[in-house]
Amino acid sequence: MASKDLANYRKNYSKSSLDESHLKHSPFDLFNEWFEKADADPRIEEANAMSLSTAGKDMRPRTRVVLLKELNQKGFVFFTNYRSKKGLALVENPFACISFFWPSQERQVIIEGKVEKISEEDSDVYFNSRPLGSRLGAIASPQSQVISDRAFLERELHKIQEEFKTETPKRPGHWGGYILVPEYFEFWQGRENRLHDRIRYDFDNNSWSSVRLAP
Ligand SMILES: Cc1cc2nc3c(=O)[nH]c(=O)nc-3n(C[C@H](O)[C@H](O)[C@H](O)COP(=O)(O)O)c2cc1C
Repeated sequence: MASKDLANYRKNYSKSSLDESHLKHSPFDLFNEWFEKADADPRIEEANAMSLSTAGKDMRPRTRVVLLKELNQKGFVFFTNYRSKKGLALVENPFACISFFWPSQERQVIIEGKVEKISEEDSDVYFNSRPLGSRLGAIASPQSQVISDRAFLERELHKIQEEFKTETPKRPGHWGGYILVPEYFEFWQGRENRLHDRIRYDFDNNSWSSVRLAP
């Protein structure tokens, strides 16, 4: 149990605001503006860390952190093991949600959409840009599988290191990128007295429209 009295744990939010005059036509532009601010804030270590929620056929949602590795005009790209729990859930149900929380900015962004694999070529480009240790680690680790102990991983890594002593490791087919193509964005800016600003964007008929939500 937490030693603090969580029920009396309160923070007042007063750093900024999000009113209609700040809105951009495209939520991607507003996201970029917020992301750049978060990234430039020395109090935020990994502004690109996002919670990714998926739910497979069993209808049980699961959330974990992954890193945003590219944001392009189509969507949000992250990399993982396609055979991981999230990979298997995405085969059963490609709809997912990502969210960013930047506490020092008192901001949250929630994005929902459909996830698809990026091209093999794009996954290769990213895989090959990673440090050697990360590439070998990705090959060695059967992500989300039960393993006997830590020594298993070290043995696997050692085997892979031996195998690729003289040749460059190639991206394994079960590791690569996904892109979440947004259909919904929600920008949350903390405000005083819990009257936070929430602006939602929806993608309908090929264009984005925004509305304000009650906090
Ligand atoms: C800060 C942080 C960054 C992470 N980045 C990634 C990532 O980019 N890709 C990834 O597969 N796992 C990443 N992880 C590990 C995941 O949270 C998770 O443990 C792993 O992907 C297995 O999830 P799954 O079993 O639900 O598929 C990260 C964890 C943390 C805490």
